[in-house]
Amino acid sequence: MRALLWLLLLVLSQEGERRVLWRWCGSEEVVGILHESISLPLEMPFDEEVENIIWSSHQRLATVVPEKEGHPATIMVTDPRYDGRVSFLEPTYSLHIQNLSWEDSGSYQAQVNLRTSQVSTMQQYNLRVYQRLSQPHMTVKFEIPGEEGACNISLICSVENAGLDVTYTWISWEDGADTAHEGAILRAFWRPGDKAVSYTCRASNPVSNITSRPIQAGSFCADPGYPLEKASTSFCLLAKGLLILLLFGTLAVGFWFIRVQTRGKVLRMKKLKRDRMRLRRKGRPGPSLS
Ligand SMILES: *[C@@H]1O[C@H](CO)[C@@H](O)[C@H](O)[C@H]1NC(C)=O
Ligand SMILES: *[C@@H]1O[C@H](CO)[C@@H](O)[C@H](O)[C@H]1NC(C)=O
Ligand SMILES: *[C@@H]1O[C@H](CO)[C@@H](O)[C@H](O)[C@H]1NC(C)=O
Repeated sequence: MRALLWLLLLVLSQEGERRVLWRWCGSEEVVGILHESISLPLEMPFDEEVENIIWSSHQRLATVVPEKEGHPATIMVTDPRYDGRVSFLEPTYSLHIQNLSWEDSGSYQAQVNLRTSQVSTMQQYNLRVYQRLSQPHMTVKFEIPGEEGACNISLICSVENAGLDVTYTWISWEDGADTAHEGAILRAFWRPGDKAVSYTCRASNPVSNITSRPIQAGSFCADPGYPLEKASTSFCLLAKGLLILLLFGTLAVGFWFIRVQTRGKVLRMKKLKRDRMRLRRKGRPGPSLS
């Protein structure tokens, strides 16, 4: 079954004196992540003895002579760009590349030369390198302002250094149901009294997908500014107002208290004076009538 897959194309070629039967083993798409590692899996076509395996990309990358009768395998990395970054996984000597860079993307070939039957097989790979996406950014653009507080907005989703093959999807949530809209730009229409609809954007590439936090069209329309910032500013203003009110309140109560106290003191002093005067009058012998 597997042999059938291998035999996609047979090409007979003359290579010097040696007649070589080429077997084209097809092309494989491989997706790798920047700075991570990847394996290009090699399958051996037959149980025949392998003379050597030649891995190449734009140029010859490495030559592997498998172990034989106790002799360990010999590996020769000929492309300095891969030196120290590649290893060959037994038993088939699949190519393992570490710390992928953008330059590593492209086509790779593995040529397996068999010793006895003078057959060579060629397997092709196409390696694409992507990086994991970061959190998407959302921008709101106001279209023509509508009447009676209605508004037309465009929501734009983007990812920094997105690279190739990024797809954007807007997901709108209304009444617990979600609807997906393909594309980086979503037009939305909102009127006061409309139900609250929240939107999230999802960006994906072949190696990752990431979803933004939800935003509400209503808050943008009612308040053309950034809703979170807006919310925090108004909260700050409110807090400041309350603080000032509290300060004035305290001051007012303080003044009132002091005033009451002083007035009480004055009254008490006045009373004391009066009492003393009365006592003096009483103590002094009144004008004698006799
Ligand atoms: C991976 O490669 C980059 C250059 O492409 C280099 O700066 C970095 O140090 C390498 N990291 C490791 C762990 O080897
Ligand atoms: C909002 O935009 C759509 C098209 O994008 C348009 O048909 C509609 O009339 C606009 N509404 C208002 C109130 O401007
Ligand atoms: C998003 O990525 C997660 C893993 O990070 C995966 O489980 C999920 O299936 C992906 N979803 C889509 C829609 O690609």
